[in-house]
Amino acid sequence: MNKKSLGIYVHIPFCQRKCLYCDFNSYDHKNNLKETYTKALIQEIGAFCAEEYFVDSIFFGGGTPTALPLPLLDEILGAISSKFTISNDAEISCETNPGVLKDHSPLREIGFNRLSMGMQSTHDEELKKLGRIHTYDEFLVSYDNAHGVFENINIDTMFALPDQTVESWKTTLDRVKSLDPTHVSCYSLIVEEGTPFGEMELNLPQEDADREMYHMIENILSGYYKYEISNFAKPGNECKHNNKYWQLMPYIGFGCGAHSQLDNTRFSNAYDIGEYIKNPLYKDITELSKNDKISEYIFLGLRLTQGVNKQQFRKLFGQDIDSLFKDVIKKHTLAQTLISDENHIALTGRGIDISNSVMADFIL
Ligand SMILES: C[S@@+](CC[C@H](N)C(=O)[O-])C[C@H]1O[C@@H](n2cnc3c(N)ncnc32)[C@H](O)[C@@H]1O
Ligand code: SF4
Repeated sequence: MNKKSLGIYVHIPFCQRKCLYCDFNSYDHKNNLKETYTKALIQEIGAFCAEEYFVDSIFFGGGTPTALPLPLLDEILGAISSKFTISNDAEISCETNPGVLKDHSPLREIGFNRLSMGMQSTHDEELKKLGRIHTYDEFLVSYDNAHGVFENINIDTMFALPDQTVESWKTTLDRVKSLDPTHVSCYSLIVEEGTPFGEMELNLPQEDADREMYHMIENILSGYYKYEISNFAKPGNECKHNNKYWQLMPYIGFGCGAHSQLDNTRFSNAYDIGEYIKNPLYKDITELSKNDKISEYIFLGLRLTQGVNKQQFRKLFGQDIDSLFKDVIKKHTLAQTLISDENHIALTGRGIDISNSVMADFIL
């Protein structure tokens, strides 16, 4: 049988303390559930019918996966490798918070080969306002330890923060560059309803400062290639796993709130940790219509610098993107928000600044 490539996401919904901006599915007061949650994950992994696939990316995300004791992470990886065929060059990533773990070398020993560290800022006053549990110096200790052990490290940063100036963001970027990670993610702060930030009066940078902060990233991070709106990598170090999401390739998500996408079907697990533990095999199934899939493929593809590949589009949907979206493409190429050549359609710099409205025009 010709096996198909598959990405695996494992959701670990624990954090030492919730950050003030974060609405991710994670808890800082359910440590008593760590073992039962791990058992539920192992049950879910064991029930998956894996023969058709080989796995070339695994991503432990959260929450903070390293808030789970190492033996439990090891058990989960063991369950995956006894169930699935894993390719020798698989990317195996783990997200971590430098305030939780100082020495990441044991993670390398149990099989992870890529680390994604949440740093956010190099200024302690900004970190404090975000409700982070670490200082910049503590990040540096943790990063230095990891740098000797992991060749492939991502640093997560955030901009457009409360009271942040263009200069302070520039300093953060300069410092990140000098740390020489293989990959950097730069997220513009989203103030989410239901988080403490959603209730607070925040002094946020204006839209033009936000855009100035965004556009300076590429200049400062020379040597890194912007391959997706928020992601910058040294050549060859793009995140394989996230690339699968952006190209609608098959992936399976284990854990509470995790999604899976196989062929035309999307599954999601129970979102609440307690519900998930009660029934880790429950799946909410959505069949995607062809139009839904086309719009989503374009939304995700436009996040990538290379854009949507026209041949690939034709292969997947049996239609020509230039004819299907003739008027939309014409409108946005004239407005210089899209570029369209023989092979690709991609957002321009101006298009990225108003990406939501460009993408909305591709809804069928
Ligand atoms: C799961 S966390 C990374 C690992 C670890 N939990 C940590 O925070 O250090 C994923 C990343 O998403 C970004 N993020 C979370 N909430 C955000 C928000 N409201 N706006 C922008 N970025 C956000 C942060 O950069 C964070 O590092
Ligand atoms: S940003 Fe990371 S550490 Fe902070 S609450 Fe969200 S998942 Fe947890």
